[in-house]
Order: sequence, then structure tokens, then C-alpha cells
Amino acid sequence: MAELVGKAGIYALKQSLQSIKKERNINVTVVCADAATGGNGLGRHHAGYIKKLGADLITTGDCCFFKKDLVESWVPYVIRPANLGSGCSSGKADVNDKDQVPGFGWRVFNIPGTETKAAAAVLLGTNFTRIKADNPFTKLNSLLEKLRTQTSLIVIDFHAWASGEKRTLFAAAAGRCTAVIGSHNRVQTADEEILDGTAVICDAGRTGSTESVGGANIDGRILEYRTGIPDWTREACDKCELQGLIIEADDLGRALSIERIRVPVPDKSGS
Ligand SMILES: [Fe+2]
Repeated sequence: MAELVGKAGIYALKQSLQSIKKERNINVTVVCADAATGGNGLGRHHAGYIKKLGADLITTGDCCFFKKDLVESWVPYVIRPANLGSGCSSGKADVNDKDQVPGFGWRVFNIPGTETKAAAAVLLGTNFTRIKADNPFTKLNSLLEKLRTQTSLIVIDFHAWASGEKRTLFAAAAGRCTAVIGSHNRVQTADEEILDGTAVICDAGRTGSTESVGGANIDGRILEYRTGIPDWTREACDKCELQGLIIEADDLGRALSIERIRVPVPDKSGS
């Protein structure tokens, strides 16, 4: 599911996820929640609630360490970018080494109700992102080498600004994993395709208010651009949608189809 933004995003997930999972016979649900708590970052309680609403795994991005409670007490169903922390003092390179930075860069897990394993990972882009990540292209290689020893069903969330960087990473990953899904821009793009068995798209979209700027209040964002003064009351709540993708894959982990979804969610008054 596309990046949840604020309480509107959590509301949209609550209203629609379970029915979509049932109607479309979804086996695994990965939810991007980099902006779920107040439009920036993910708090520990929201992480637990999103899992309860039906997420098997939750991804984050450049805001992965914004909420102290999660940083201090990470949970195994949340992953942060795998290409962080190799510059830390111990010098170890393992992405799941907790001596480096908090959290997990990837997880391998059983698809609910089966013995089949799937894996998900996050990579952070390096163009224009606010925290300095290690090279996502070299990390992609070591990550796939590691994950492919355990499963061929591998989904990567590439959290990045620039479509050029995203499309280049898609080409580098083609034929080596099930999907590479772009996130962070929060605007669903129409460039989805399957490259040698790997489903790709520059941006899965946004789950939350569509009458907004990236999920933020429109007037507040205009004011920010006009004056440079941050608007701290910036969540938008109108015209909510659950956005995301449904990807079908075969037993070898090769993508067969990728479909964009946009599901309008009635507001609390029922309109
Ligand atoms: Fe982000």
C-alpha cells in the first residue's frame, strides 16, 4: 500500500484494507508508513495499529528515525532503509546489525498461513534525500545475493526523490527480484511495467488526503513556499483514498502483473 500520510492515511487503511485483501485474495501486504505519524515518521503505537489493520510488513524511508519511541524500541515488523549505517564506529557491514543503527533493513518472513517465505527490503535513494545513505546500487547487489539464498519472492521499496535514480535502479534490479516499488514522492505515477519478471513503478502514490499537497494542508504549504515559515498544523483530511499496487507473481518469484489501485474512502459523515 502506498505511503500513509497522517491520520487520513491511517483512516483510509482502516476503512479499506481488509475488504481489498478479501476481494482480491491478497497473500502478502506491505505498507509504506514513512509519514504515518503526524505526516513525518512512524511512532511505535501507530506501527502496532497498522499491523493490526492488516499489514504483514511496514516500510519506512528517510523519516525512519523521526519518532523516538520506535528508535528506542524497534519492532520486527517495521523495516528502515538497508543502506544506512555502514559508517558507524564498529565498521560492521551487516544491514541487520543492531550495533550500527536501530532497526532492520530487510526481513524474511512466512507468507501468512503458508510455509512459503517472502522478503522485503527498503533502499534509500541518494539524490536530494535528507539523510546520507550508502550507495543503493552496491547495496542492492549484496542484499539480493543474501536474500535470494532464502527466497525468490523479494519486494524492494526504493524510497527516493528522483525518477532518474529510480528508473536506473529498476534496470539494475531487473530479473533479480519480484518487484522494486518507488516511494517518497507520494504521487502515483503511470509508468508501471514488468522488466524481465520484475514489477516496477516510480511511485506507488499516497494513502491519505488527495485534496492536499503530498498529504499536507494546501494553504499551509503555499504559506511555507511564500514565507519560508514552516506550517506545523499541516495534515489534510479531505477526499481520502487508499492507493497502492497489486502485484501477482509466480512460484519462482517472477512478477506476472502489476496493477495500480486508487480506492476512494467515504469521509466520516459518509459522503
Ligand atoms: Fe520520505
